[in-house]
Amino acid sequence: MGEPSPHGPSPPLHNPPSTPLEAQMADTLTITDNRTGTQYELPIKDGTISAIDLRQIKTDSDDFGLLSYDPAYKNTASCRSAITMIDGDKGILRYRGYPIEQLAENSTFLEVAYLLLNGELPNAGELSKWENEITHHTFVHEYVIRAMDGFLHDAHMMGKLVTFIATLSTFYPKSKAVRDKATRDEHIVKIIAKMPTLAAWCFRHSTGRPYLYPDNSLSYCGNFLNMLFRMGEQNYKPNPILERALNVLFILHADHEQNCSASAARAVGSSEADPYVSLAAAAAALYGPLHGGANEAVLRMLREIGDVKNIPSFIDGCKNGDKRLMGFGHRVYKNYDPRAKIIKDLAHEVFAVTGKNPLLDIALELEKIALSDEYFVKRKLYPNVDFYSGLIYQAMGFPVEMFPVLFAIPRSVGWLAQWQEMLDDPEQKIARPRQVYIGADERDYVPMDKRG
Ligand code: SDX
Repeated sequence: MGEPSPHGPSPPLHNPPSTPLEAQMADTLTITDNRTGTQYELPIKDGTISAIDLRQIKTDSDDFGLLSYDPAYKNTASCRSAITMIDGDKGILRYRGYPIEQLAENSTFLEVAYLLLNGELPNAGELSKWENEITHHTFVHEYVIRAMDGFLHDAHMMGKLVTFIATLSTFYPKSKAVRDKATRDEHIVKIIAKMPTLAAWCFRHSTGRPYLYPDNSLSYCGNFLNMLFRMGEQNYKPNPILERALNVLFILHADHEQNCSASAARAVGSSEADPYVSLAAAAAALYGPLHGGANEAVLRMLREIGDVKNIPSFIDGCKNGDKRLMGFGHRVYKNYDPRAKIIKDLAHEVFAVTGKNPLLDIALELEKIALSDEYFVKRKLYPNVDFYSGLIYQAMGFPVEMFPVLFAIPRSVGWLAQWQEMLDDPEQKIARPRQVYIGADERDYVPMDKRG
């Protein structure tokens, strides 16, 4: 039986395994092309076959060979990654092997950022150095303030954030040396450090408040709250419960393997574009209501429902396709999103400080009804990370347009971890999928006077 070559697909088989048991013994897939009767044996590795192994399956020498067709990549692994593991059926999420529940309980966002980027938890010295580096890169070029004033006051904050992440690219042209690790590390620090400053300035611009500068005596999340909410106080002290809640929310949103925006970061980064424009592309992808914009859409949905008595008619709208239950469903999780569970519990801690968000009752009743309704049960639609997060953000004083921004800040760490892993992966090249052409055959140009 032809052993699969470590250097690629084995040649077509003319002497297939003599018994089904023999075929079952090998980590290979035996394919019979019924158009030609030829059999092929493809190696199976990590539960996958290599798509390029399909190209050998041809009807004749002129045949390009088979492609795999997978719109939205529903069943395609685009990379090998060691960063985040999700088991969608069991509702498991781990960063570098650590369960999200333990990190949310015991860690801080900057410690988790170090873990995601470096693969290991830092020791005390490493963490202190890391925090110090981030703290001392939180300032942003003053030109950003001038550019910010070019936006309408009610410009959506994600539109501004995407703009200014890309704008940072113009301040750091040397960041284009993406193959140099020291350069990558320098700009990874800059981006993580500056995201809260950009986000806070977008918020201050939208509310007509003066821009505030970072306070290096505060923690990452404490300083973010400072730049957002400080007014006349001389010595702003963030509420410790809200500071802790922001740490937990940022930990939960830090990475999520090959989601839409991480895939955008990888794709744009694969052309060797600099990290700033690669992350601007990722933030643009996150903005969509089916992705990171869902937390904003959930709040608008809850406001539209307005009262628990309106839930049955809203649910009917979901079933007939007129409505979508935002904050529910997930491409990977076919069980409760573990992040949603943690956020739901966190809400009660925040509301003890801020006062309960009245929309919580609608959300809880909506979840209860949806989880017992056949339409959602059959489709395995459970609350995802976005279902409860907006309730907390609103209670903390954030406008709904800020919610995707609050997703983008922590997710910049995941995007950067995925981006650097892609650049270090010898199997990766510039991303350039194939297509199935269904357009017109060759035809001649038609002069204007001959057109219909
Ligand atoms: C995030 O990928 C990630 O990891 C993303 C994320 C991350 O951390 O990066 O987890 C963050 O983006 C969470 C998802 C936030 N989006 C929403 O909450 C928007 C609402 N949810 C959906 O639109 C939907 O569930 C998706 C986009 C999240 C997933 O879509 P899929 O996997 O492509 O599923 P689908 O649209 O094909 O739906 C399958 C069926 C369809 O019904 P049928 O065609 O079989 O009849 O389920 C239905 C859908 O109509 N459906 C819903 C629904 N989600 C799916 N029906 C009502 N309400 C919903 N929310």
